[in-house]
Amino acid sequence: MSARLLPVDPFDLVVFGGTGDLAMRKLLPGLYHRDCDGQLPPESRIIGVSRGDLGKKAYAEAVETAIRRSTPEEQLRPEVVDRFLKRLEHVAIDAAGTTGWRKLAALLQRNGKSNGIRVFYLATAPALFGPIARNLAANELITAESRVVLEKPIGRDLDSAMAINDAVGAVFEERQIFRIDHYLGKETVQNLVALRFANALFEPLWNSAHIDHVQITVAESLGVEGRAAYYDTSGALRDMVQNHILQLLCLVAMEPPHVFAAEAVRNEKLKVLRSLRPIDNGDVTTKTVRGQYQAGAVGGQAVPGYLTELDRPASSTETFVVIKAEIANWRWAGVPFYLRTGKRMMTRQSEIVIQFKAPPYSIFGEAGGPLDANRLVVRLQPDEAVRLFLMSKDPGPGGMRLRTVPLNLAYADAFNVRYPDAYERLLLDVVRGNATLFMHKDEVEAAWTWVEPILRAWEARNDPPKPYTAGSWGPSAAIALIERDGRNWLEDAA
Ligand code: BG6
Repeated sequence: MSARLLPVDPFDLVVFGGTGDLAMRKLLPGLYHRDCDGQLPPESRIIGVSRGDLGKKAYAEAVETAIRRSTPEEQLRPEVVDRFLKRLEHVAIDAAGTTGWRKLAALLQRNGKSNGIRVFYLATAPALFGPIARNLAANELITAESRVVLEKPIGRDLDSAMAINDAVGAVFEERQIFRIDHYLGKETVQNLVALRFANALFEPLWNSAHIDHVQITVAESLGVEGRAAYYDTSGALRDMVQNHILQLLCLVAMEPPHVFAAEAVRNEKLKVLRSLRPIDNGDVTTKTVRGQYQAGAVGGQAVPGYLTELDRPASSTETFVVIKAEIANWRWAGVPFYLRTGKRMMTRQSEIVIQFKAPPYSIFGEAGGPLDANRLVVRLQPDEAVRLFLMSKDPGPGGMRLRTVPLNLAYADAFNVRYPDAYERLLLDVVRGNATLFMHKDEVEAAWTWVEPILRAWEARNDPPKPYTAGSWGPSAAIALIERDGRNWLEDAA
């Protein structure tokens, strides 16, 4: 099956943080791939903005290196690399100050597209979102066809998130603001919506009458490496749960939107976020576990502990978190959602497990063996798949002996296409003005409203994070948390 490419109108993309990690690892290589597929209009340009005065030539060289580093040899097409590099410009700007803005204005004007599409991508520290928005307005760069993209983290608590939303909202309309959560751009995450709402099979069972519990795991094998300084001010709850994992939870738990479009989808997600049962000082120790990795081995390679990577003698930042979340509404009452994420875990594996309830009675007696409950596993990465675990007869003679077998939809086999990186899809959605896979400000604020009391309760208790060995599945307390409920982590589920 081949991909269908929807054209986009000509645009100028201005990337603040244009020499940063995100731009070089994801945004620019992603746009190169769109160029390979012929999806970028010939006149579209990409303007990298950073503090230092790099100049156009040096910037193009840096971008070329980045593209070569992140693109497999067979996908490097010299004529497209060349064409792509010609689209690049560079402007040195002091984001919070006054220098450089006129040059940006001249560049955007020179392109003769004062009413064409302009995308301002803020891949910077969130403290700069407000100042950049103000400067864009002060220099009259915001047109009716402009959009702004805000990278996470949007704040570090509810107040700071609201301050950012207010500052950006003062100069852009909400329809122009695209708060990106790259998990929503992943093909398998979108496929979760297709699975639920394009099939009649699951939805009738998708509730507390038939589902025992849900597990959402985003395990990473990498540590914090070069990002230690940022990460230490954040931790796993802010870095992964407040955004990516809660978005996944919303897609699993939301009611069917009446249409797959921005307002309808966002409203349903918002209802889920607002239904999350608060966790605070009273139950934070029974419903959450924080961990921090120590030296160990991942994939046979010895790796240092978090403090060594951070190069500090002590830190109470968590690199692992488990939360037992509950959604207080009619559909989900009594169904725990176990959320788990961590760095330096045994393997990179992200999946959503929907554990159904066991059949009420076995007609096969003892010889048949126990009847396992059905399980639906949506594997997000690394090998995208959906697997439905069913009971089946063991083949051959020997009577009616039963065992669990997976019905396996591995995407690599089913669809013979290159999987675009999440950012590729999302960047072009911004150009098209399609906000379905982006977060409304109310969602960001509702997510913080649930997360903040957990943070405050941790601060008040001041317990150190529980150590775990790099290359494991986290601290033993994380296993104890789910075992207390008579359940297990299903990490080898797929
Ligand atoms: C980012 C986090 O948002 O997501 C990182 O800041 C994390 O810490 C990354 O590693 C994970 O994304 P992916 O797409 O590799 O699962």
